Amino acid sequence: MQSPYDVLGIDPDADRDAVVRAYRKRVKDAHPDHGGSLVEFERVRRAYEHITEGRDPSTFETDIDDGRGRRNGTTEDGRSGSGRRDDGRRGSERSRGESGGTEGSDEEGEDRSLGPTVEYLDYEVLEANGWELTDEDLFEKAEAADLDVDRHGLLVVEDRETLLEAAERYGFSWPYACRGGACANCAVAVVEGEIEMPVSTILTDEMKEQGVRLSCIGQPVTDNLKIVFNIERLPGLAELRLPAEQFESARADD
Ligand code: FES
Repeated sequence: MQSPYDVLGIDPDADRDAVVRAYRKRVKDAHPDHGGSLVEFERVRRAYEHITEGRDPSTFETDIDDGRGRRNGTTEDGRSGSGRRDDGRRGSERSRGESGGTEGSDEEGEDRSLGPTVEYLDYEVLEANGWELTDEDLFEKAEAADLDVDRHGLLVVEDRETLLEAAERYGFSWPYACRGGACANCAVAVVEGEIEMPVSTILTDEMKEQGVRLSCIGQPVTDNLKIVFNIERLPGLAELRLPAEQFESARADD
């Protein structure tokens, strides 16, 4: 029986910084693209959630067995097959296990694949360090900076999820207002990979050519992505944004 601290390789009395550092290292090593596996990756993520949510370490294994410990919005059922089209840019059609799932045997887990993996970075970090979106080593610099997990890290987008929904499932509070592609508050900059949107009338062609996408309606169509979120102060985007209060008031009037 492992405790979540065993999974992250830290002492039970580790402070939050040590937990975050251990998680950031372990989650990368455990990623299937880096020599790990889906089962290992999800186990690491569950361990991190278990610790940061203050749950009893002794219930870690039973919580996993019972399917507890998922963030809000994560499915409890083991979904398989993808409703998303595969246009060749993503890998072969996947059997999409839930990102919260280590249920079942290792063999079963190895048969599944992760959904699109997104490495995210907060635009505020770029501003604070004088980095540019066009810096070729942007994400290497972020890695070296040992940032907190809400600033830089990895997340997996599940079947039919938008990027914003995936971020929220991980407990992050990324900017948004309308959630319908109409305000640009949720815009992200795609540095690597691709996100497709069903509609994108609010963004100019120039913004789209620069890789700006709306996370509230955008779904990854490549296996691996690097994105910068929180880009509301990016030149050219501020003018497109509609005040969030407008949507709050519209919702209140519903
Ligand atoms: S939240 Fe308004 S466009 Fe995404």
